[in-house]
Amino acid sequence: MDLNFLKCSVTSSPAFILDEEEIARNLHILRPIREQSGCQLLYSIKALPFMPLLTMLKPFVDGFSVSSLFEARLANEILTKGQIIHLTTPGIKQEEFDELSRLCSHISFNSLSQLQRHTSIDNSALSMGLRVNPKLSFLKDDRFNPCRQHSKLGIDIDALWQSSCMDQIKGLHIHTVFSATNYQPIIQTIEKLRRYFGKSLAQLDWLNLGGGYLFDQINDHRPFIDTIKQLKNDFGLDIHVEPGKAIVGNSGYLIATVIDRFISDSKTIAILDTSINHNPEVFEYQRQPELHEHDPDGRHAVILAGSTCLAGDVFGEYRFRHPPEIGDKIVFKDVGAYSLIKANRFNGYNLPDIYAYRDSQIILLKRYSYQDYRQQWLAD
Ligand SMILES: Cc1ncc(COP(=O)(O)O)c(C=O)c1O
Repeated sequence: MDLNFLKCSVTSSPAFILDEEEIARNLHILRPIREQSGCQLLYSIKALPFMPLLTMLKPFVDGFSVSSLFEARLANEILTKGQIIHLTTPGIKQEEFDELSRLCSHISFNSLSQLQRHTSIDNSALSMGLRVNPKLSFLKDDRFNPCRQHSKLGIDIDALWQSSCMDQIKGLHIHTVFSATNYQPIIQTIEKLRRYFGKSLAQLDWLNLGGGYLFDQINDHRPFIDTIKQLKNDFGLDIHVEPGKAIVGNSGYLIATVIDRFISDSKTIAILDTSINHNPEVFEYQRQPELHEHDPDGRHAVILAGSTCLAGDVFGEYRFRHPPEIGDKIVFKDVGAYSLIKANRFNGYNLPDIYAYRDSQIILLKRYSYQDYRQQWLAD
């Protein structure tokens, strides 16, 4: 998308823009992987559960993967019978399980104790499995490493191997990576599963390979396709793949406006009408989001900061050819996943308006108001 056109066409600020053409391009990358490998593609709705997006994706996926009762309800509103809703979470509450078991087609329990508490449910339509933790760390940063020491995510592969649970379940779920740009992790993980469980994998119906791969940043998909085909061939398994970020990450933009500028300890600070409220991972992971206006050779260094009271509400230092003036708009890129879903109204700042870029036009889809803020904080 032409981001200068975007800046001229979006009339309010801050604004989140979902580029539907980019989403179509991401689906175009996934299509041959799905067709050639025979896997079932589930969109992991935790990345961005925006209803117009879910409706758009419905014809191109086999279902959604979900993490909670609310996500399962939302998925159920959009999908039709026969499409998959696959849940895995450490947080299944006893009182929610009955409804979850009716809404979901597949549930991967996160622990042996969770499995034991829920397998007695009488629902032949529900396919129950286990999330296994293969104990292979592919990430240095433990904040998003599911295979960290003392992990809460999935049953330790050794414990599963020693248990008799493989006979009670229909499938296994693995999810071990975060923004991976090659297929080595899945290849190594499958090798380990094969080493541990060998032929007993054939008594299962399915294997869920999780999400975490940035398919658009990987050139050769053959190793992934071959791994899936081999699994299907050797064990007759249905294979689920559940990307989130790979579908929406690069399709989201956040537009903000500079509303103040001053010098602090000899550096220029530009205050924006957005904040890390609208993209909390900037603060959680201390990660600087990509900025359209950043020019590595620009002479002017400016710290872009949010408008809340938090001292660390800072996007980072960027370089500009012309320092942004009050009233100028800037665009953060690659913020489609895990931004809006984690956004909040701390300090009373409103959530961004949401637009779609569709058929070469910018269309306003959602505007939150003071009434929404007030509603959130009213007692019943
Ligand atoms: C179990 C599971 N599946 C799928 C995903 C989606 O991952 P991504 O958006 O990185 O593709 C996640 C992300 O945290 C996850 O925890």
